[in-house]
Amino acid sequence: MPCEAAARFLILYGSQRGQAQSIAEEICEQAADHGFTADISCLSNQDKYNLDSEIRPVVFVVSTTGDGDPPDTAQKFVRKIKNKSLPHDHLSHLRYALLGLGDTNYANFCNGGKTIDSRLQQLGAKHFYATGHADDGTGLEVVVDPWIEGLWDALKKTFSSMSASDQQDPARSQCTQDNNHKNASGQENKKADLEVDLNLLKLSEVDSQNGKTDSSVARSTSLVASLKQSVSPLSESVLKVPALPPSYLEVVLEEASTEGDAIPSGEDGYREVSISKAVQLTQDDAVKSAILLELDISEQDIAYQPGDSFDILCPNRASEVEELLLRLDLQMQKNYAVQVNLLKNSSKKAAKVPLHIPQNSSLQFILTWCLEIRSVPKKAFVRALADFTRSGSEKRRLLELCSKEGSADYNSFIRDTNICVLDLLQAFPSCLPPLNLLFEHLPKLQPRAYSAASSSLQHPGKVHFVFNVVEFPACPEHPARTGLCTGWLVDHVSSILRPLGTVPASERLGTSALPKVHVRPRPSSTFHLPSDPSVPVVMVGPGTGVAPFIGFLQQREKEHEMNQEATFGEMWLFFGCRHKDKDFLFREELERFAHNGTLSHLIVCFSRDEPDEVGTVNRPTYVQHNLLLHAKNVASILLKNKGCLYVCGDAKNMAKDVNDTLLEIIGNELQLDKLDAMKIVAGLREEKRYLQDIWS
Ligand code: 2AM
Repeated sequence: MPCEAAARFLILYGSQRGQAQSIAEEICEQAADHGFTADISCLSNQDKYNLDSEIRPVVFVVSTTGDGDPPDTAQKFVRKIKNKSLPHDHLSHLRYALLGLGDTNYANFCNGGKTIDSRLQQLGAKHFYATGHADDGTGLEVVVDPWIEGLWDALKKTFSSMSASDQQDPARSQCTQDNNHKNASGQENKKADLEVDLNLLKLSEVDSQNGKTDSSVARSTSLVASLKQSVSPLSESVLKVPALPPSYLEVVLEEASTEGDAIPSGEDGYREVSISKAVQLTQDDAVKSAILLELDISEQDIAYQPGDSFDILCPNRASEVEELLLRLDLQMQKNYAVQVNLLKNSSKKAAKVPLHIPQNSSLQFILTWCLEIRSVPKKAFVRALADFTRSGSEKRRLLELCSKEGSADYNSFIRDTNICVLDLLQAFPSCLPPLNLLFEHLPKLQPRAYSAASSSLQHPGKVHFVFNVVEFPACPEHPARTGLCTGWLVDHVSSILRPLGTVPASERLGTSALPKVHVRPRPSSTFHLPSDPSVPVVMVGPGTGVAPFIGFLQQREKEHEMNQEATFGEMWLFFGCRHKDKDFLFREELERFAHNGTLSHLIVCFSRDEPDEVGTVNRPTYVQHNLLLHAKNVASILLKNKGCLYVCGDAKNMAKDVNDTLLEIIGNELQLDKLDAMKIVAGLREEKRYLQDIWS
């Protein structure tokens, strides 16, 4: 091993929700065990590093957000390296490795990392280790763990080649995990576009093999039993268990007055607004209940366009916070003021008190508004919990769940079933973790984003949202759980919730009696109507995926009224729901749009109505079946008339199936094989004429 100064490297991370940061920190921590010294910085701290003169190898960990964008914290950095005046050898001195994080349920998989990677290559920087692309859809650790394992060897070779002044790119011998990474040639960069769709293809193959189970909702019916049931006969000492993550926080509870119980607001861009309407859009006997909210933003300086979203702040459920306090034996201290300090002797490098945990707030406030107590515990958390578990068999099972051998169990009993820390504490009654462990491992409670379902031209001073109340099935140990934000919203608006067609609450109650919510706009960079109204548009939005299109159509209806001379392109909407009479959302409004010509074609299908009710035997059940029936029109809008295709809704199944159908339509129309059709679709994405607003 070279001397310490020579074995120093730099880790730069671009994180949106903290995942990239915690992986970067993990690499930083492991560095010393492998004889390296690591420095670490967020990409946003541009005064902390300078790539222009960086001689240390650099490890980037970059996540992806929005429609394949680099995280907010990396935006400035990306703008800087994208500066067109930089010469092509500007970074030719730089040796780097990059780990991208993404989710194959979304298009533009890992595009945040890919954007940075390809630009660094264009500027002459060289890989010393193959790029890794980790998929949150199947579990980041599947790629992250082996990628980190291989990193140490790659660094060793890099340092020895640097000291031997060997200028060869050491990545060549080590690119074992990702042969898609690009070099400076433009031709290879094209691969990136294609890879987007190859990923979708890959995934749909996996799906059809797996029979498409909806894993996010599939809570095991014998959750606790399966969690506790050990499958491996290996003894604790043989299991390949990850190292115990070092503790770094000290939490002090004091019976003092609390000062910090303030929900984030102005400074973070949040405004408190009234909910002026809450309307149940579905019939009582519909399987999923859809609710429309109207927020009064007239007093606030908030502007939005149809296609934009809003972040909504929601607290953890009071009953779950109580349960957690009880389980941690801290119920009596829930109103105590919390002080969080860094532990002086911690071996964790780059440790800091998480910014999302305020000082001097009450414990109850922190557990309610700051920490995601429903988050799925990472393996490091499970490992740490094992150390605070008295029963030998329970401890053994927790160690197994976070071990290499227990990986499949971790996936099926924790990750895929949306287990949270409360479930674990219930399944392992002898586990009693100290508070600092929760503060170290529970991520920040994130706002939830909802697409605007209105146009301010039609509803000045108002914004609408629509959502399904998400329900996780019950299991013997638990009643059914509602989704965190949707469940909270339903309870929160219960005093004003009314069925469709009755008097709005704001007209019955004074404004002061209306429920309030904290929101901030989240503008989309792409998901908007084309600026030229003559461009034809195809919209695909089953279920609540119709939300942004209601905004588009309200906007277009007003534009028709205001400018009758203008030429408007065709607007097609493909909508789908289960039953015509139960969950046909916005039916009246959509029929009005179709009637007055705002919509040129309203194409609706019902997935669960009896065939004879609708008249035809092989009727289309899903939106993609209707797309196929109208393939000629769709192809001509996209290929001849330079139109736009918008897809909104479920990422896991619908968006993928629609993508496959699009490939089929384009392949048939242009007589192309699948690979060439994919190139056309990649081109449509590139031109921002195939846009998605999807979620899983
Ligand atoms: P289902 O629930 O009867 O399967 C809105 O949720 C509509 O989208 C429902 O009619 C739902 O049908 C349908 N849907 C479910 N999976 C889909 C898929 N893969 N593609 C298109 N629509 C789908």
